[in-house]
Amino acid sequence: MDKRVKRHVKAKVHDFFAVTAPGLSGICAAELAALPLSMPGTEVVDGGVEFSGRLPDLYLANLCLATASRVLIRVAGFIARDFDRLSREVERVPWELLLPAGCRLAVDVSCRGSRLYHTGAVAERTEEAVARVMDQARAPLAREGGAGYVQRLFVRGVADGFVLSLDSSGELLHKRGVIAAGPARAPLRQTLAAAILRLCGYDGLMPLVDPMAGTGSFSVEAAFLAKNMPPGWFRDFPFPSWPAFSEKTFEHQKKTLAQEFKTLTSPSIFASDLDPEAATALADRVERLGFTDAVRTAGADFFYLDPRDLAPGPGLVVINPPYGLRLGDETQAKDIFSRVARRLRDKYPGWRVGLLSPQAGWAGGLGWTRGPEVTRLVHGGRPVFLFAGTV
Ligand SMILES: C[S@@+](CC[C@H](N)C(=O)[O-])C[C@H]1O[C@@H](n2cnc3c(N)ncnc32)[C@H](O)[C@@H]1O
Repeated sequence: MDKRVKRHVKAKVHDFFAVTAPGLSGICAAELAALPLSMPGTEVVDGGVEFSGRLPDLYLANLCLATASRVLIRVAGFIARDFDRLSREVERVPWELLLPAGCRLAVDVSCRGSRLYHTGAVAERTEEAVARVMDQARAPLAREGGAGYVQRLFVRGVADGFVLSLDSSGELLHKRGVIAAGPARAPLRQTLAAAILRLCGYDGLMPLVDPMAGTGSFSVEAAFLAKNMPPGWFRDFPFPSWPAFSEKTFEHQKKTLAQEFKTLTSPSIFASDLDPEAATALADRVERLGFTDAVRTAGADFFYLDPRDLAPGPGLVVINPPYGLRLGDETQAKDIFSRVARRLRDKYPGWRVGLLSPQAGWAGGLGWTRGPEVTRLVHGGRPVFLFAGTV
């Protein structure tokens, strides 16, 4: 078995897919290009980034990518026009070399223009075929409702072509392992916050002011960059349960990364919120992450803050204002936007600004000296526009 795992999984070059939210694939490709992976080259496609490599590259991608939602490993691709063919093709995969005995399988199917269009039936046939292979190898899957971790298997059908991919991330990667324990008003996903910082040109060194911080998504992502820590450092992944997992390699990767972590002598990130409960939860989250060397927190009203009290010179101020989410709130949203814009123009000259807006046409009023670049992103299923420039 060990020899087969080595030959068929460990020694092989695999195709991986980093799934991203709309608008984030280009940034994710740049992140991948900066990682010390075993093979160069990425391809941005619909919904994410394709790359190739060996299994340890997958560990590194999960640990280090700030903007990917999950990372998949492609395990099979075939044409199937009927269920018998589907079952036969799934049975050709040596599942026992990929999955541990006793895991539970969750099959997620999407079909577009496929003759096998009934996704429930495709899932059922796929699971049955995997279970037969695992039974034959005397490594049975857990029965429905049984214990054991849940391994997701994605089946994507486009016309009659099917691709099978195993998930290597478990919980979505925007979950960094430590969440805020207080009120959360439309928190940004950490992946989106990470992308916004990169689109604003944040480099981990310049001062950062996050004056409507809420749960602290921007500040937490900024702290990962400032401390040179991978954003997946505090969370778990399913791949340590795989038969081909090499603990030695993973530990070595983590040790190498940890040697580059920085402890800062004074925080360059300032995070505050008007809501005292939010500010307390924010302070607690920063403390639990061990980021107090990087992030200073406070309860404060943005409209009374003066950046000269917060940083030695201009840096980046990044704001996701409290816009209402319903359409009827447009006048109120525009009013908040204008007030925030005026404050930024008057008090933050020379600063980079990252400002989220529900409308693409509201960029005026800030007195931009450079930019702004406007990027369409998606937050909570709705479009939002990032204005990034210098005032
Ligand atoms: C949309 S939420 C920000 C969410 C944040 N980006 C996150 O990921 O959790 C807006 C935040 O602005 C805060 N806020 C509203 N008015 C404020 C003000 N005048 N000064 C500071 N914070 C304010 C709210 O309490 C709320 O936490």
